Amino acid sequence: MASSILTETYTLANGVKIPKVGFGTWQIPQAQAEESVTNALELGYRHIDTALVYRNERGVGAAINNSGIPRDQIFVTTKLPAETKTYAGAKRDFETSLQNLGLDYVDLYLIHAPWPWAKRGGNYDEGNKEAWKAMEEIYQSGRAKAIGISNFGVPEMKNIFEGATVKPMVDQIRYHVGYTEDAITKFAQDNGLLVEAYSPLATGRLLQDKDLTDIAAHYNASIAQLGIKFCLQNGLLPLPKATHREHAKSNTQLDFTISDTDMAKLNSLNEE
Ligand SMILES: NC(=O)c1ccc[n+]([C@@H]2O[C@H](COP(=O)([O-])OP(=O)(O)OC[C@H]3O[C@@H](n4cnc5c(N)ncnc54)[C@H](OP(=O)(O)O)[C@@H]3O)[C@@H](O)[C@H]2O)c1
Repeated sequence: MASSILTETYTLANGVKIPKVGFGTWQIPQAQAEESVTNALELGYRHIDTALVYRNERGVGAAINNSGIPRDQIFVTTKLPAETKTYAGAKRDFETSLQNLGLDYVDLYLIHAPWPWAKRGGNYDEGNKEAWKAMEEIYQSGRAKAIGISNFGVPEMKNIFEGATVKPMVDQIRYHVGYTEDAITKFAQDNGLLVEAYSPLATGRLLQDKDLTDIAAHYNASIAQLGIKFCLQNGLLPLPKATHREHAKSNTQLDFTISDTDMAKLNSLNEE
């Protein structure tokens, strides 16, 4: 059943292993989340990405808890809302997520963004430091096996590094063919963080990109498969989302290698 990519892992800076392809759940409503995640688990996915703000943690958790798969074989990520920039708020929101999920620990807990979504780009250095202190304590309690950040750029990462006793292990950023955030990726990787690629299919837009049709056809692959493999070959961890079972299935069939020439071509594309 499971193609090998679903059981292959990266290793985080603290030694925790993380399956190389995750299943994204943004925009999967609560009512549909249990079915989608159950499908994904049946297909062999062992890494599920959710967030408190997705309002689907209960469905995600139900799928995990009803799967019959031992808990330690599923990697679960959830996220602290971007709006929560206090120590007490972070502690409170973590409890809510665990309760929603019906789990006693998560594998990875991320600060969803360095600024509230409505204040994108604003400076929340102090609030992020406060939230990070709570994240460190959660990590030290063993209830998050790893901690990290999402949507953090270089200055915001530097702010967290200052005075951190536990360095983030992951930065989850938007990353896909045509949008690769090279400076952030390099800085994060140079500092020992694993970079996760969210929206690896550009929330579906990549699939309409005619320029990619010929490259994908060369590997007998779909554009989705090409886009996911592209992230992996750049050393990132893709998090494709698919509510359709056939999509979720084909996104794991990645048994081809994009040539260096095609990788260079794909890396040079810029959607802006
Ligand atoms: N940290 C953050 O701020 C952040 C932000 C955005 C996303 N994320 C994470 O990253 C995950 C993925 O990003 P995303 O949700 O933006 O979307 P995505 O994975 O880039 O694209 C998903 C879209 O592509 C379609 N699709 C997937 N596989 C396909 C296939 N093989 N053939 C045709 N269509 C296919 C899906 O359709 P169906 O659903 O109809 O199958 C859906 O419409 C999220 O779910 C979330 O977990 C994190």
